[in-house]
Amino acid sequence: MVGEILKIENLSKSFGKKAILKSISLNVEEGEILGVIGASGSGKTTLLKTIIGFHKPESGDVKFRHFGLLDEGKKVRRDPFVSVYDESSFAKNMFGFASQTPSFYDNLQVRENMLYFGALYGLGQKELETNINILLTLMDLKKAESSLAGKLSGGMQRRLDIACAMIHDPAILFLDEPTSDLDPALRNHIWSLVRKINKRGTTIILASHHLAEVEAFCSRIAIIKEGQLVDVDTPSRLKAKYADSQEIEIQSYPGHYHNILDALRKKCKDVTAMKISSSGLIVTSRNTKNVLHEILHIMEKLDEELIDINVAKPGLDDLFLKITQVHERSEHATPHHQVHPNHPIHHRG
Ligand SMILES: Nc1ncnc2c1ncn2[C@@H]1O[C@H](COP(=O)(O)OP(=O)(O)OP(=O)(O)O)[C@@H](O)[C@H]1O
Ligand SMILES: [Mg+2]
Repeated sequence: MVGEILKIENLSKSFGKKAILKSISLNVEEGEILGVIGASGSGKTTLLKTIIGFHKPESGDVKFRHFGLLDEGKKVRRDPFVSVYDESSFAKNMFGFASQTPSFYDNLQVRENMLYFGALYGLGQKELETNINILLTLMDLKKAESSLAGKLSGGMQRRLDIACAMIHDPAILFLDEPTSDLDPALRNHIWSLVRKINKRGTTIILASHHLAEVEAFCSRIAIIKEGQLVDVDTPSRLKAKYADSQEIEIQSYPGHYHNILDALRKKCKDVTAMKISSSGLIVTSRNTKNVLHEILHIMEKLDEELIDINVAKPGLDDLFLKITQVHERSEHATPHHQVHPNHPIHHRG
């Protein structure tokens, strides 16, 4: 990491009387891929659009490192960070934004669209040609450069949209739900392109619903819920912080799972959650060893023959639910019911 490129400070944004972003503070490192994860309506798009200066916040600020651009005009400043809202034309050149809905024109060809977006950024002819050729290759669109954008497949359209957002070679690229409505193979293609773009040196901030889909390549993940930042950390640290329980899956014969659960409920205090699934019994606990011992003991007494047993960490999408649940409970908890972030509250099914 080379240092911070963006500082988001106590950002609050409302639409009418409705508070959408609630005092969000977050720094972005140069060269990272930051995932912004939250449920639909949690404020991801609003956050991204407020960071780039499209929406003006009621309070708070977003500052970017200006790489000496401002110094060229002899406006030498000591603080290398300047406000997006004060320096909007510099910010415009720093940021690229691929929105949730396509921005390109259906009736223009791929190359024509790129020319159009390049003109919006005031790029000179030579620079524009160079950037277009680089992007056509990078985004696997070379063969389609003369095709009408409206006639492209869904995956190609998504790639064109990202290419248009990158036409001016921005330092920070924002991708709002870059894989929504794409099938798994096309999603993977987009993600591998995101990695490629990042390897070329572009910092990436992306919004997504799915923690599990983005955790493999995000350097950090910011989780937002109802406009508040719940947590921001590396995927592995988030997992270590919240996923301290394990799931024990058991299949047995004759499979009278209700009897096992009843006995376990009476005997064992270490169980966080339990349910019967189509394939057997799932018990969640932070003390796997003890619970396993109890289950096997109960099964022996009930004449249940063990067929299969598996111990696993909860999936990441479950983890996301858990993180936001923990947050919700700690927010609304009375002093008698304070929930520590490490307290397991994993209720499913
Ligand atoms: N321009 C606007 N005017 C009024 N309300 C808005 C506007 N944009 C967003 N909102 C409201 O702000 C809230 C957050 O919306 P936002 O689009 O930021 O959520 P999101 O997390 O991106 O959701 P999704 O995952 O569905 O894209 C929603 O209640 C939405 O209705
Ligand atoms: Mg959105």
